[in-house]
Amino acid sequence: MRYALECVHCGRVFEDDSLVRCPECGGLLEVTLRYDEIDVDRSTFESRGLGVWTFRELLPVDEEPVTMSEGGTGLHPCDRLAEEVGVSSLQVKNEGENPTGSFKDRGMTVGVTKARELGAEVVACASTGNTSASLAAYAARAGIRCVVLLPAGKVALGKLAQALFHGAEVIPVDGNFDDALSVVKRLADEGLVYILNSVNPFRLSGQRTIAYEICLQRGWDVPDAVVVPVGNAGNISAIWQGFLDLYELGLIEDLPRMYGVQAEGAKPVVEAIRSGAEDIEPDPEPETVATAIRIGDPVNAVKALRAIRCSGGWAVAVSDEEILAAQRELATTEGIFVEPASAASIAGLRKFVDMGEIGGDEDVVCVTTGHGLKDPEIVMKTCELPEPVPPDPEVIAERIKGA
Ligand code: F0G
Repeated sequence: MRYALECVHCGRVFEDDSLVRCPECGGLLEVTLRYDEIDVDRSTFESRGLGVWTFRELLPVDEEPVTMSEGGTGLHPCDRLAEEVGVSSLQVKNEGENPTGSFKDRGMTVGVTKARELGAEVVACASTGNTSASLAAYAARAGIRCVVLLPAGKVALGKLAQALFHGAEVIPVDGNFDDALSVVKRLADEGLVYILNSVNPFRLSGQRTIAYEICLQRGWDVPDAVVVPVGNAGNISAIWQGFLDLYELGLIEDLPRMYGVQAEGAKPVVEAIRSGAEDIEPDPEPETVATAIRIGDPVNAVKALRAIRCSGGWAVAVSDEEILAAQRELATTEGIFVEPASAASIAGLRKFVDMGEIGGDEDVVCVTTGHGLKDPEIVMKTCELPEPVPPDPEVIAERIKGA
């Protein structure tokens, strides 16, 4: 086998793909690649079109994938914003360009392929929205029954529409994401459902391709810093592991520093980084306009703390006002429309630069995780729709000249 599952807590190693948590200590499992058994070089990947399955030798499945051409997202130079923020180079890895509009598709193509391989009858997740939208779509494509638990009244409209329309059984829960996730974990332990939250190691393997793609798109030149919004803390951990994989395989010569950004109202990872604690103190009442990262008890926190610390990075919290201002700035100066949680990475970058954590001469990649159309209601609250006018060229010409 070119991979195994390793427990993040007790270090035991397993070769049993049906596991989603350590059978010995209950800890999180991570896919570890056996680098000696993987025969790839830079040209293996350079000769293929860009996407998740470009990196199939590094993914823990051998079956035909359940796929919709996920990944292959743009890495957009943002020169005007770089100047504005005060760094020498800024690129935005825009994950909103995935099939269902978020980075979750990278994980689901791998995770749902594994679910089908294992013969799962029901796949399930708790979600702040994007995970459910993605799982609903991939489960539909695979022909597997899908159940999603959502915090009632706290999921952005576009995401809810996706989950419903792809035919998932949507169960709104009177509680927050953390409450919903603990229920799904319990049902998974009882064998009722196959869980596709970011406790699933196969899903997170797919998300490592964000790092693989960044390196490939930059001709294997590694950025100084990578800035990522943090909710349940799976993505920042997966991206860091992706860089480590390429480093261990000898495909890159450096590693970036990893920077996490949370919202002021939901910042347990930031608190732990600041205090030097080994684990987070859960926040029982997370609240933020960026509903995607409205999470008080991130399950992957320990891995995220490790990624940030081992890489020499840091974490900050940003206010809702800073998030919405960054969202607008990215849209108006660079043409990139992202949802509020994604804009946290841009708002966070500003803070890291102000703090001197990221230097003015550095080369930065911000990961924007979801499309702006996911949450149209939030942007319409700050946009004014002008009064209609008659379709009269003179009236409209006057309007344009007057502007
Ligand atoms: N950005 C967006 C747009 C997200 O949807 C999420 C997580 C994150 C960032 C944070 O990523 O959890 O790996 O740290 N959304 C999950 C969901 C929780 O249910 O859709 P993370």
